[in-house]
This record gives sequence, structure tokens and C-alpha cells, in this order.
Amino acid sequence: MLIVHRKKNVTKLIDQSILSGKSIGLVPTMGSLHKGHLTLIKQAKDKNDVVWVSIFINPIQFNNINDFKKYPKNLKKDVNLIKSISKKINVFVPNEKEIYDGTPKLKIYDFKNLDIELEGKYRENHFNGVATIVSKLLSLFKPNDIYFGEKDYQQVLIIKQLIKIEKITVNIIICSTVREKNGLALSSRNNLLSISERNESSIIFESLSFLKKNFNSLKLESIKKSIIQSIEKNKKFKVEYLEIADSKTLQIQQEINLKKSYRAFICVNVNEVRLIDNILLN
Ligand code: PAF
Repeated sequence: MLIVHRKKNVTKLIDQSILSGKSIGLVPTMGSLHKGHLTLIKQAKDKNDVVWVSIFINPIQFNNINDFKKYPKNLKKDVNLIKSISKKINVFVPNEKEIYDGTPKLKIYDFKNLDIELEGKYRENHFNGVATIVSKLLSLFKPNDIYFGEKDYQQVLIIKQLIKIEKITVNIIICSTVREKNGLALSSRNNLLSISERNESSIIFESLSFLKKNFNSLKLESIKKSIIQSIEKNKKFKVEYLEIADSKTLQIQQEINLKKSYRAFICVNVNEVRLIDNILLN
């Protein structure tokens, strides 16, 4: 299994793969891999001749220094997990200086309002930071396919917009959210929760499922209010947002027009661990 730290070594290997007509799959991650990431990696392994997993905690997509500092890290475990899928998968682990040729510089994009609400509203420049790093990874790996999880649905739409802006030819493959038995969406941040917090966090997906069942029949504002109240009965839980948005434009909806497709999006801070999830409503 190859673990590569330098861009020039990646470029050599990518050039060889392209010359020999091999298809390249890229799974960008920030490490602390869980079953959700492993599903992406397995899909890449099934579809592509060559698979790269990148592991880099990108500082410029964090608006909160504490969130960045406490982001879970476990490279040894990550490498073993990838190995358990296949020893043929390549891993790219750059440091900040290597990937950014020095200090990171944020690029500012026009995401056509896709970054105004939800995560974009509460995490200033988060999506510019994500797009800056993904753009670098795309030009380094020149992948045929790039893999993302549906849990970060807004991120997926942002990346689609990025590839339009930068006129990059790449296929985006979106894999469904992988959940714990109790419904909690898998996330590297779940490692920061205690066992009881993990159990109690089942309320997040339960709330989304309740919305899916009832959003048609109840007034949106009152249903949202009652869900937030019931989540916040637990003093450790604080709802940052609960919104229903158009699946394509991510515009927040106060009323529903059933000809369109909607999703519900939620962000809950559990003892200051930020958890997000979303569900397709119709
Ligand atoms: O989804 C993530 O883990 C990150 O935002 C990504 C796409 C790896 C960019 O740092």
C-alpha cells in the first residue's frame, strides 16, 4: 500500500495511470475514517482501476479554531481501515505547506447563493475553504470520479458548482448516508461524543424522520418549533438550525409546493460537538 506525502510523487503516479489508460477514483477525506468513508472507498474500488484516498484536515474550512484543534485524528487506524479494503489503494497525506505551497490562501467563489443558508450561514467561508482544497485535489489527481457522502448534501451542491466554474471534467458520485443502528449519521465528530451522548443523539434522525412523515400535513413553523423544543429538552443539546429547503437551490421554504422537491436540514450542537444531518422529504 502506497502512502504518499509529496505532490510531485502523486503527479508521477497519476501520469503513469493516465498513460496506461487507467481510470482514477478519488475519495477526499479529513481522516478519522468511519463506515461512511469506507462505503465511498469500496464504491471507488469497484468502479475505478486506481483509487486514491486523501487525508488532510483543511484548516481554512474551519471558522472556529477550537473545532479545528479538536477535530479527531487517527492516521494509523485510518491506514489499517483502508488496508482492510485493499492493499492496492493509495493514500495521500500531505502537510499544510505541501498542499498549499506555503501558507493556505482562501479562494472566493460565486456559488450562486448555494452557500448563503444552512452551513454557509453559520460557518463563514467554510465552503470557500472546501472548494479551495477540492479544486487543488482535482487538479492534482485528475480523477474520472470523485466520491462524496450525502450527509454533506450542501457540500455536494457546492462541489458541483465548483466543477462548473472551473470547467473540470469529473463525475461526482454521491453515496447515501451511513447510520448507526439508532439512526445517528456516521461522522468523524461522533468520536468526540460520550456513549450516552451517542445514544441520545438518535433524536436527530428521529426528528428528521418525523418531519418527513408529517411535513405535508402540519404548519412548517409550528412543527419546526415543537421539534426544536423537544430536542432542547436535553440540556446538552442546542439546535443551530432546522430548515426545510428546496433540494436544488437550497432556498429556505416557509410554505410547501408539492411540485418541487424539498429536504430538511438540521445542525445540533451536542455538548459543543457539531452534528449535521439531512433527509429528502418528497
Ligand atoms: O467532507 C469532508 O471531509 C471535507 O469537507 C473535504 C471534502 C475532504 C474537504 O476538506
